Amino acid sequence: MTPPRKLHIKSYGCQMNVYDAQRMVDTLGAEGFVETADVGAADLVILNTCHIREKASEKVYSELGRLRVAKEDAARAGRTMQIAVAGCVAQAEGQEIIARAPTVDMVVGPQSYHHLPELLARAGRGERAIETEFPAEDKFAVLAKPSREAIRARGVSAFVTVQEGCDKFCTFCVVPYTRGSEMSRPVARIVDEVTQLTDNGVREITLIGQNVNAYHGEGPDGRAWTLGRLLYRIAEIPGVARIRYSTSHPNDVDDSLIAAHRDLDALMPFVHLPVQSGSDRILSAMNRKHSAAAYRTAVDRFRHVRPEIAFSSDFIVGFPGETEEDFRATLALIDQIGYAGAYSFKYSPRPGTPAADMQEMVSATEMDERLERLQALIDSQQSAFNKAAIGTVVDVLFERVARKPGQLVGRTAYLQPAHVMASDEIIGQVMPVRIDSLERYSLLGELVTATPVSRSAAPLATVGA
Ligand code: 5AD
Ligand code: SF4
Repeated sequence: MTPPRKLHIKSYGCQMNVYDAQRMVDTLGAEGFVETADVGAADLVILNTCHIREKASEKVYSELGRLRVAKEDAARAGRTMQIAVAGCVAQAEGQEIIARAPTVDMVVGPQSYHHLPELLARAGRGERAIETEFPAEDKFAVLAKPSREAIRARGVSAFVTVQEGCDKFCTFCVVPYTRGSEMSRPVARIVDEVTQLTDNGVREITLIGQNVNAYHGEGPDGRAWTLGRLLYRIAEIPGVARIRYSTSHPNDVDDSLIAAHRDLDALMPFVHLPVQSGSDRILSAMNRKHSAAAYRTAVDRFRHVRPEIAFSSDFIVGFPGETEEDFRATLALIDQIGYAGAYSFKYSPRPGTPAADMQEMVSATEMDERLERLQALIDSQQSAFNKAAIGTVVDVLFERVARKPGQLVGRTAYLQPAHVMASDEIIGQVMPVRIDSLERYSLLGELVTATPVSRSAAPLATVGA
């Protein structure tokens, strides 16, 4: 029997890349590959790239420079190391990568991962294989499922892609070009995948999609289901203790999603709802198709049914034409909403997007200064939010042993890490924890009881027909 070939995947960027990397490992596992953490020992190295923000392609080329050296070392040792570029940079710049980086054997876009075995065979015949089409077939149906061992090794929390791509075309964003137009997986497939995960110890499911609340997959009744309706169905699956979803667009917050937050205990009261800017003028230049007021209304709808709900967001500072007044409108919106956390970025032009042609660039100094002000405000909100947990009892889903001996780490409903001295038998359980103190971003506390929180995951009411 030939020894297994070794695969090393380096993943950048979003949660979907994490999920995709796992699907690639599963699919190549079926071809006789095992994962290795050691790049030098790998027979195949995959760079799973991200194209969303600044200097994405430069980072890929410098990483490829390092890999070229590793490949030459392997060749000197009489081994063949193949190098593949996957992810959104592969999709956007496939031909260029092939032309510029002779060390690359394969380029594969996110919609073609199910073709990896075939690409590998082509590369094995000496061809430099490239696949960046948007094939019509359902890649999820072809990609291998994870083994029981792989699921167990990946822990109690898992991502499941339910939707991919985006038709919104915000003027700064590459996603509609790299991930393609919006598609939703059928409900039955998602339910199967979640069931397989929970059967093997997963307790928390995060449904992911670039525009997850635009979900409109086919339900068992043959109709298009909304994300809200899907959430009710997921909550019925035995073993699901917690459900999350990410990333949402304010315009796709509908009645069924609000109802799900009202009715489902398992649906965590923490929503990532990017707004990008608080200025209507900038929102319109960004083609966000919503105003700051419409965003506030969406937030209010969640809060009305779940007062304890918290939000995080994404912000871009220094979008072309952004004035000090526009920026202040963003700070004002942040003040009004009050976030538990947020990601903030300096605008960077992405080639091929409409905003890349906009002329009124904000200076680098101004961008730096605005980013600093925005982050200071978010940091103060986040630390107030975290401090408010001190002295309260919160539910924690325990994930793994911590670095400190005898200590476990888990997460609260708001994804705050919580450290507790406890036996590792409670990994995978939700337990009440009294929070005593805060150390940077981490909560420290102690178990209140030895009994797990019993959570009825079943809905209190159902939505739709
Ligand atoms: N420049 C800066 N930030 C960007 N993002 C997306 N495109 C750009 C860009 N061109 C940010 C947005 C988005 C997050 C994932 O990345 O805030 O919500
Ligand atoms: Fe990009 Fe999100 Fe806008 Fe879609 S909705 S174009 S993914 S920023």
